[in-house]
Amino acid sequence: MTSSPTATDSLTDAEILSIRADFPILQTDVNGHPLVYLDSGATSQRPLAVLDAEREFLTTLNSAVHRGAHTLAAEATEVFEDARSTLARFIGADDDEIVWTSNATEAINLVAYAFSNASVGRGGAAAERFRLGEGDEIVTTEMEHHANLIPWQELAARTGATLRVIPLDDDGALRPGENQITERTKILAVTHVSNVLGVINPIEALITAAHSVGALVLLDACQSAPHMPLDVKALDVDFAVLSGHKMLGPTGIGALYGRRELLEAMPPFLTGGSMITTVTMTEAEYLPPPQRFEAGTQRVSQAVALAAAVRYLESIGMPRVAAHEAALGRRLVDGLTAIEGVRVLGAGIDLPRVGLASFDIPGIHSHDVGQFLDDQGIAVRVGHHCAQPLHRRLGVTASTRASTYLYSTESEVDAFLDGVSATIDFFGVRA
Ligand SMILES: Cc1ncc(COP(=O)(O)O)c(C=O)c1O
Repeated sequence: MTSSPTATDSLTDAEILSIRADFPILQTDVNGHPLVYLDSGATSQRPLAVLDAEREFLTTLNSAVHRGAHTLAAEATEVFEDARSTLARFIGADDDEIVWTSNATEAINLVAYAFSNASVGRGGAAAERFRLGEGDEIVTTEMEHHANLIPWQELAARTGATLRVIPLDDDGALRPGENQITERTKILAVTHVSNVLGVINPIEALITAAHSVGALVLLDACQSAPHMPLDVKALDVDFAVLSGHKMLGPTGIGALYGRRELLEAMPPFLTGGSMITTVTMTEAEYLPPPQRFEAGTQRVSQAVALAAAVRYLESIGMPRVAAHEAALGRRLVDGLTAIEGVRVLGAGIDLPRVGLASFDIPGIHSHDVGQFLDDQGIAVRVGHHCAQPLHRRLGVTASTRASTYLYSTESEVDAFLDGVSATIDFFGVRA
């Protein structure tokens, strides 16, 4: 007799088969081959439950939220706010600590612009801790996606603050030293999971170090929230950002988590309709958060669909998704490492991983690798993955990245590994 899986067991073959049936796109043929989709780190596929939820909303309730007095508007507002609660529960936040944004990039910019608006005196006394000037420091890492680097470069340029960078060792692991987090640090912005290396960073010590000097911490959870349990309160971060399209949801929606008292004290980024109480020709009073940060017409059907994605993930259980992906990630790294001529970025880092690995084949440009794999129906990402400083540190300009999700199978990983071997044979670069 087989016993049923526990909450932390990996997914069974039968479960993966049943999950795959929920994703019609996975039955597609590409270039005469069954699609092997290994680009979920860029954007994930959406199950029918998510597509249906958006269509259901649009065919029965579509209207503007927090505005009209009519029935549809009231019901749309209710499901929009329910969606917020669903996402809040998923990451361990309170409902009013979730701000909807277009994506993670906008969420990071929201925080960075709040700092610079505070720095020019907006927000009054309450916004004191967001004020930056010469002598203040912003800390990020050499591993970041450009979305978690450029907004901080720009904030430094606007305020005169200094940007400090936590460096990487030769393998690509974070190597914090004495000089980065100091008494002058105002904010630490760090990624939970690298979108190039797939490693889960040991962020706890960094968070403690930042808080010990009174700095705030922004966590880029784009590559963790979709793939592993995430509890922002347990991690004790001040802000966290994510993107809906990377976690089975639609494009056009992301979220910022912010601790309530910080959101209450923070000046807004975008301003306009839907975020105010009283407006005169010279000034405006703002609504409390989260609405203070949600100017203009909102992405309602996208929020509803993202909530459906969260419920889908919850129905499987994030610990089980994480276990499945950890196994696929190991298979990817071990399989690639075993292929002569392949250099896996970050292979030497002894940290837990999600199902994502990037590699270089000296002598073959990553675009050619991607093209060759695509001819076999295998979809991967090529280029610098919006992480040029990390690639530069590891001595490459580009890499090829394979990334899995809960619907990915061992046989897909094996087909990809065979494809990489065939690429090397085709280009004749095996030593
Ligand atoms: C780690 C990380 N941060 C931020 C982003 C930006 O996400 P978006 O483009 O959805 O805003 C990505 C997307 O690839 C990412 O992987």
